[in-house]
Amino acid sequence: MKSRILIADRYGQSDVLDFVEEELPPLAPGHARIEVRAAGINPIDARRMTGEIRFGPLPLRFGTEFAGLITELPAKAGPWSVGDEVLGSGGGFTHATIIDVPIGNLIRRPSTLDWAVAGSLAGTAQTAMAVLHELGDIGSLLVNGGAGGVGTVLIQLAREKGIQVVATASQANEDHLRALDAKSVAYGPGLVERIRDIHPAAFDAAVILAGTEEATQASLATVKPEGDVASITGIPAPSERVRATGNKPSPANLQYVVDRVADGRIRWEVSETYPFTRAAEGFGAVLQGHTRGKRVLIF
Ligand SMILES: NC(=O)c1ccc[n+]([C@@H]2O[C@H](COP(=O)([O-])OP(=O)(O)OC[C@H]3O[C@@H](n4cnc5c(N)ncnc54)[C@H](OP(=O)(O)O)[C@@H]3O)[C@@H](O)[C@H]2O)c1
Repeated sequence: MKSRILIADRYGQSDVLDFVEEELPPLAPGHARIEVRAAGINPIDARRMTGEIRFGPLPLRFGTEFAGLITELPAKAGPWSVGDEVLGSGGGFTHATIIDVPIGNLIRRPSTLDWAVAGSLAGTAQTAMAVLHELGDIGSLLVNGGAGGVGTVLIQLAREKGIQVVATASQANEDHLRALDAKSVAYGPGLVERIRDIHPAAFDAAVILAGTEEATQASLATVKPEGDVASITGIPAPSERVRATGNKPSPANLQYVVDRVADGRIRWEVSETYPFTRAAEGFGAVLQGHTRGKRVLIF
């Protein structure tokens, strides 16, 4: 069985992206073969493409999440059957027409989730759940960069727990943040004063999803001295108070968010879809850093 796979044989802008056709090896034990229908483009994909973040050998392969159809299974595959519609985290890469995925990663696609939504939730859902769990029992939270993928889910999970949330975005996304039930503040000069105007008390914690100096300084200025300041950006912060964290793979956590998106308790936004052949366009747009929700490849 052949798969068409997105690759980059050098670092650079999205013109380095190319496709190869490869014969897949026999299905490894414990894996399901999936015909991919949709796969989110995450910032990590675009940042690996440019070489800002480097792991994995060249040529690079991309994609951490997917939704699709099971086409092949080992003899013992638990509750799964060929033809089942599934989603989850990939087993190496997902920006390809056919992929092999560990069976333990699979979640059933609810009928109310279209393919683009189903294929774009795993990364943000598992990251947001992990971050929120680590923050523990807090009453107030500053989210720097609330309108992107992780912020959109994290804000709603926090609000579900009764946590007061103030989130930053550009003015264009203030309505989006309000719709998530967060208080919205526009980033840019005067940010700390605007945050204090809207939330005079010090926060219990802050999360940095936008890796700017401004986000770090605003967090340090508005969080209690003993409060947690966590960053998932992978960009070294100029303060030892900032704790680096990130995604912790957990199908149970993904299922928790999928259930809520499926029944409407959590809003999710696919800002734009791209046919797989136009992946370069999607990667270029993600690199701009202003995606609301998620951009998604469609197969
Ligand atoms: N460590 C991990 O496991 C992990 C997991 C997931 C993500 N990440 C990283 O975490 C970061 C966030 O991920 P994501 O998926 O949420 O990214 P994203 O979807 O690309 O975030 C885009 C959002 O960032 C906002 N933004 C841009 N500049 C901003 C600024 N100066 N201040 C505040 N907000 C700003 C944009 O809002 P406007 O359009 O309104 O400007 C946009 O909505 C990325 O760097 C990603 O690589 C790490």
